[in-house]
Amino acid sequence: MIERVKTGVSGLDSLVGGGFPRGSIILVSGQAGAGKSVLAGQFAVEGARKGEKSVYLTFEQEPDALRQQLESFSFGKDIAALEKSGKLLIARVQPEYLRLKGKMGALPDALFKARLNISEDLRKDLLKKVKETGAQRVVIDSISSIPLALPREFDAGFVKELIMDLADEMRALGITCVAISELGLSPEWLSRDTYSEFISDGVILLSLSTVGATSTRTLQVVKMRGTKIDAGIRNFEFTAKGIEVEAGDA
Ligand SMILES: Nc1ncnc2c1ncn2[C@@H]1O[C@H](COP(=O)(O)OP(=O)(O)O)[C@@H](O)[C@H]1O
Ligand SMILES: [Mg+2]
Repeated sequence: MIERVKTGVSGLDSLVGGGFPRGSIILVSGQAGAGKSVLAGQFAVEGARKGEKSVYLTFEQEPDALRQQLESFSFGKDIAALEKSGKLLIARVQPEYLRLKGKMGALPDALFKARLNISEDLRKDLLKKVKETGAQRVVIDSISSIPLALPREFDAGFVKELIMDLADEMRALGITCVAISELGLSPEWLSRDTYSEFISDGVILLSLSTVGATSTRTLQVVKMRGTKIDAGIRNFEFTAKGIEVEAGDA
């Protein structure tokens, strides 16, 4: 029997057999403004409230900006208290390689060696925060930021390996992880890097479509390993409580 972790998102658990399978990597993908960070915030706060240590790692957004956004919903009201008690950590990842970036350009011959070191640095930076806290839930916001943060010389194969390694380590630690991605550049891909949807155990797609003055937000569970999913496209709304997925007719 697969253990389930509650997502904290009203209406989502029932689409995924009661919650995300514990120890799985869930890709949450969608365009900018689709609601990925809010959904992931709900997941992290829900964990922290239940006594499961939760770490929310952001690559681009300032932690304070994220805190403010999450605090505007009722689920986020006790973020400060949860952080103070050590149950929740919202942190920005600023890997060593970003500080080395300038030097890198001057060291083309050492690129191969530098690649290995950089990979190690990023993995260490991410996993250090995760291990230090004994996190049971982790959010990476976002995996599509990883290649953007790397020097141009780093090819897709390198990034793929890095993400696969991270996913393996998270699984080995039994962590339930929400990995956020921008959409693919072409509609057949669900993630910007085009392989995270295969590496992940689950995929949730958030969409925002606008017709005239009306916009509709939808959520679809595309896959979830070991789970009988409801893959229908559901409308969702931002309410005072956070993201709430509308019930289907089933
Ligand atoms: N309380 C709210 N009511 C309505 N819409 C909201 C509210 N809070 C956020 N949003 C919408 O959600 C968007 C941001 O959500 P976010 O989770 O940060 O998106 P993403 O991470 O996918 O870029 C905002 O651009 C805004 O349109
Ligand atoms: Mg975001």
